[in-house]
Amino acid sequence: MTVSPSPAPARPDLIARFTDLLGPVGVLVDATDTASFCTDWRDLYHGRALAVLRPANTAELAAIVRLCNEQGVPMVPQGGNTSMVGGATPDDTGREVVICLSRMNRVRAIDPADLTMEVEAGVTLKAAQDAAREAGFMLPLSISSEGSAQMGGVLATNAGGNNTLRYGNARELTLGVEAVMPDGSVFHGLRRLRKDNTGYALRQLLIGSEGTLGIITTAIIQLHPQPRAIEAALCAVEDADAALKLLGLLRARDPALVQAFEFMSGTGMDLVTSLIAGTALPLGERAPAYVLVELATPRPDADLREYTEEVLGDALEEGIITDAVIAESEGQRAGLWKLREEHAEAQRRAGASVKNDVSVPVTHVPELIRRATAACTALIPGIRPAPFGHMGDGNIHFNLVQPEGMDPAAFLARSHDIMDTVADIVKDLDGSFSAEHGVGQLKPYMMPAWRGGAELAAMRHIKAALDPKNLMNPGKVLPPPQPGA
Ligand code: MLT
Ligand code: ZN
Repeated sequence: MTVSPSPAPARPDLIARFTDLLGPVGVLVDATDTASFCTDWRDLYHGRALAVLRPANTAELAAIVRLCNEQGVPMVPQGGNTSMVGGATPDDTGREVVICLSRMNRVRAIDPADLTMEVEAGVTLKAAQDAAREAGFMLPLSISSEGSAQMGGVLATNAGGNNTLRYGNARELTLGVEAVMPDGSVFHGLRRLRKDNTGYALRQLLIGSEGTLGIITTAIIQLHPQPRAIEAALCAVEDADAALKLLGLLRARDPALVQAFEFMSGTGMDLVTSLIAGTALPLGERAPAYVLVELATPRPDADLREYTEEVLGDALEEGIITDAVIAESEGQRAGLWKLREEHAEAQRRAGASVKNDVSVPVTHVPELIRRATAACTALIPGIRPAPFGHMGDGNIHFNLVQPEGMDPAAFLARSHDIMDTVADIVKDLDGSFSAEHGVGQLKPYMMPAWRGGAELAAMRHIKAALDPKNLMNPGKVLPPPQPGA
């Protein structure tokens, strides 16, 4: 993408003050340097930043937030810029600064007795997972963008991912946070207490607020014992109803063992194996759908392999699954996970796609898939529904790829029609229109219909109380106030 040379900074006085606070290394102004911070991972949003600011620590971050607050400069916090809903990129006015947390990237401490990790916002989720593993523990947050997603953003969006059904979302796994508030004050909440009932749970408010109420700088994350035995299996199923039966069977036997339960449509799997090098279906025949099951236990003496063979053997005998392969090695287990983790990338390569990161009660997942497939196919003939995701906690990525041969822009122009069609079905099934990706700048328009009344009013009061100048990630999460609302 060619970027025209940027005009002189709009606010040279301000740029000079930012540079005094952060040093030249901490302030990017030239458009060629800032461009990558202004476009989201999905290439849906293309903004322009007054500057990209890169503080090295909390004190520097607090100082620039104070200055932005004083000068009325809107701020867009950014970690790995992996948001699926445009939650971390600036608008195109050139008035906003992006505040990038990448330089605040230390794993400060791991406490084996407390089973906690103190980690800074700019550490990637993968690096945090690796540090935990090297210390003999597991940081159970796992999402497909973990190589780039950073801990600050993972918390700001209350990320979930593949192991939520066993370990919970970021919110359940976080004991304490430090954050810089919109006025530049520092919320010192780095507590490691499992019990702490002392007023409002500000950390839980900040987690999932998508950088609109404060910027998380550091967190205390709960770790879990490293599983001593893990078995992953790819199972072929006729449909999501069969997948639901498989989940029920596994949970009836031993729910604590189920660490991941990922549904994949046949269409989605075809896209992966045809568009992602190094992937191949390790089963005899193509199936209408698949489930990646992962069972794990910290018990060193468990004969998990035998158990896995037995329970999947029963599932085969009962006709719940039609085929299955259990990974024979770490490499094969990684290969099965690659088939799952590459769905988003394969869909990106297949053409324009619309994502519906939705959740419903687990029992309604088959009906969601059935009804949304029929409704979207009727809406746009030739559209390719390619649902996949975290069926174990009811979170399905009901993503749709453009019809072959259709103009991508014309397809994307129908995004809201598609999202609203799926959302109507999700609402009918008591679900949520955003399960783990958040609202960002893509979905605020849906908030009044879904979270309207007292709920949205309370969110607006909280936002006005903490960020009265609306400088912290403006335009994200909350829709503009309706006239007369
Ligand atoms: C995933 O679970 O792979 C992503 O959250 C889904 C997506 O990118 O749509
Ligand atoms: Zn996901």
